[in-house]
Amino acid sequence: MTLTFDAMASQFDDQRGLPRAAISAWLRCVDELAAGRQLHVIEPGIGTGRIALPLAIAGHVVAGVDISPPMLDVCRQRAETLGVADLVDAIWGDAADLPYAEHSFDLGVIAQLLYLVPDWTTVLDELARVVSPGGYVIHLTEPTIESDALQLWSSTWWQMVAETGYQQLEVKPGEDDIAAEFLRRWPDVQVQELASWEFGQTVAEARRDYGRRVRVVYPDMAQEVWDALVDRYLAWSESAFPDSSTMLSGRVVLTARIAAS
Ligand SMILES: C[S@@+](CC[C@H](N)C(=O)[O-])C[C@H]1O[C@@H](n2cnc3c(N)ncnc32)[C@H](O)[C@@H]1O
Repeated sequence: MTLTFDAMASQFDDQRGLPRAAISAWLRCVDELAAGRQLHVIEPGIGTGRIALPLAIAGHVVAGVDISPPMLDVCRQRAETLGVADLVDAIWGDAADLPYAEHSFDLGVIAQLLYLVPDWTTVLDELARVVSPGGYVIHLTEPTIESDALQLWSSTWWQMVAETGYQQLEVKPGEDDIAAEFLRRWPDVQVQELASWEFGQTVAEARRDYGRRVRVVYPDMAQEVWDALVDRYLAWSESAFPDSSTMLSGRVVLTARIAAS
């Protein structure tokens, strides 16, 4: 199965938005590479523009491709609202077959994309092709360190999903695979932690409306299987977390893998 973001477009920024301090750290990282120049940036899998639009606000020219028309609509609408539509060209396209000539960009950025694309190494080949020599490629990741309570909360969900027989995404390159593929293409790659922040919600908040909120991630699970799964999970959560004010918390570390092209 593949995960489509069409149904998630309107919720994506609420759920995955970066804190202001993380956006500032991201901009400082790009500023250092730009050294005062206006960069031409490509983000394959641009989504709602969460990562790329701040670069347009900073004055860079941004191109993005995505296979989800609803995500692109949100991105274009946000670019309008933010007054940067003239610096942003977000179009339909496949990250594994970018519709640009070689050496068209100064900076290629990817975030939360490689695990979605079956031929993910081709995405890196494409970035290597369209970014000019002397430019940069950045892979942004957001690893999380979860509290024991959150680990139990999420691992039990994954286990119950697996027990329904539902096929999870098959393509999940690990960090080591990605690091090796970067090193092979861009030998002087460096990893930098840009920012980190705490997140969390109570068990009561996590339970609220759970079935409806999480459903978009499993669009092709049969409704009766979904209903039984959610009932079972919520019943388990009542016994595992009798105190619904228990915090499910963690820390995100925004991390950049930066490679000179
Ligand atoms: C998790 S979202 C991340 C969006 C954005 N990069 C960010 O970090 O906010 C993944 C995005 O990649 C898009 N996507 C998935 N496969 C793709 C492909 N082969 N080519 C282009 N975009 C793709 C999805 O439609 C979705 O908008």
